Amino acid sequence: MSKTAYITTPIYYPSGAPHLGSAYTSLAADVYARFKRLDGYNVKFLTGTDEHGLKLQRAAENANKTPQEFVDEMSAQFRELTPMMNLSNDDFIRTTEERHLKTATKFWQVLEEKGFIYKDTYSGWYSVPDETYYTESELVDGCSPDSGHPVEWVEEESYYFKLSAFGEKLLAYYDAHPEFIQPKSRFNEVYAFVKDGLRDLSISRSTFTWGVPVPGDDAHIMYVWIDALTNYLSAIGWAEGSDDFEAYWPAIHLVGKDILKFHAVYWPAMLMAADIEPPKCIFAHGWWTVDGDKMSKSKGNVVQPAELVEEYGRDQLRYFLMKEVPFGNDGDFSKERLIQRINTELANDVGNLFQRVLSMVYKNFDGNLPAFNGECSIKDKEFLHKINTLNELREHIDNLAFHHALNTIWEVIGEANRYMDAMEPWKQKEDKAQMGHILRVLCEALAYISIELEPFMPEAAKKMQEAVALPFSTFAGLETPAEVLVTGTSIPRPQGIFPRVEVNETEAA
Ligand code: MSP
Repeated sequence: MSKTAYITTPIYYPSGAPHLGSAYTSLAADVYARFKRLDGYNVKFLTGTDEHGLKLQRAAENANKTPQEFVDEMSAQFRELTPMMNLSNDDFIRTTEERHLKTATKFWQVLEEKGFIYKDTYSGWYSVPDETYYTESELVDGCSPDSGHPVEWVEEESYYFKLSAFGEKLLAYYDAHPEFIQPKSRFNEVYAFVKDGLRDLSISRSTFTWGVPVPGDDAHIMYVWIDALTNYLSAIGWAEGSDDFEAYWPAIHLVGKDILKFHAVYWPAMLMAADIEPPKCIFAHGWWTVDGDKMSKSKGNVVQPAELVEEYGRDQLRYFLMKEVPFGNDGDFSKERLIQRINTELANDVGNLFQRVLSMVYKNFDGNLPAFNGECSIKDKEFLHKINTLNELREHIDNLAFHHALNTIWEVIGEANRYMDAMEPWKQKEDKAQMGHILRVLCEALAYISIELEPFMPEAAKKMQEAVALPFSTFAGLETPAEVLVTGTSIPRPQGIFPRVEVNETEAA
């Protein structure tokens, strides 16, 4: 059996169009999935839409549609994120699909059989935009502590999950698995929350109907979060006893910091109750603001990834989002910063490097990769040693430290630019063999860069790989030390990879 990895995004509420926030988690999961595939893993990358609950039912009412019509329409917009951001997800799950209904139902039945569900009445506050229950003391100025939206009083018969039985077990699990919740600051936050004591969780609603019916009691539907979390099992056929469940579970869940509690407390407790292993890790990323402001429809500052892709390029946006902010931190989006990074890091650092090296190869060696000229000098060897960064990258990607991975690649790019400046191959007109040698050493660096950048910028990386005639398409090709390219292979006429963004002065002002 080959190595496997299962990475998921939250399933998005399709109550409005996707925005930068939704594109962000999916992009991070995509980079991870692509990296692991290149590294020989059999990967399952799952995303999708969370289509039940009061928020969706009301959004449908406002649009004068039935909930099903509404979610069919809106979910399609989230599916569009795949081509728009060039995501490589293997599946797209919708919670209104049959396979999911079966799973949510079976999961409930298992919890019930094991004695972790009971019926009572619930009274308390509920925020529809957050789809979350709050106690009086949790409210901030009478509103949701998470989103600031008004809350509604709810009083109804409800089924409960015995969450309170899992406090000690969860703490023991966190202690034994310090990597379970990341980053570390989030771990401490969750730990403190659980240590404070857990109350049982209301897990059904009976005052509206848009949801998965509770098995054996049609007067109730499942609380949307219980239904939603089980999507991670639906997609790998847990309910059917599929081999995929054996192969891929446990998953790595990427989530925004606002939904950490559901994933790091409720979800592992429910899995423990059902005798299913908890996820491998929950990584909570931060939130994007725009020019310092929270993104919101009313402010009219919602960033649409489609517009940015159109204006600046897909890989350029992918690069920016992964580089600008350490994954886990909050970040601020600004077009100025995006343009700055495109022009300096992409056009200058990488684009010029490829152009400088390859146009010299093309002109001076009839477009064929030149040979090493005998033994490498100590300086060459040092350089060739520095470009071999795959193990470092593996560590960064395993830690979901995407910005560190990019920094590592950029160190190689910097080294290559400095090596070229120091070796001045253009001064070796009289000694073609030596000129060829310098360029060949540089081409080896380009080979590493071209494949290591692929998870981040798949289209540009393909162009880079063609430009250096890379003879392989996975990281296995990097296992031979030095000399990963083939002498004499012809390369195409070099073409620019990253165009500069011209900013006219009025725009810049
Ligand atoms: N449906 C639930 C998730 C269920 S998972 C079993 C949900 N959906 S959501 O559409 O409201 O949010 C989806 C994700 O988008 C969350 O992880 C949230 O953190 C993320 N983001 C929403 N706005 C964001 C930003 N401005 N910046 C970064 N991520 C943001 O919650």
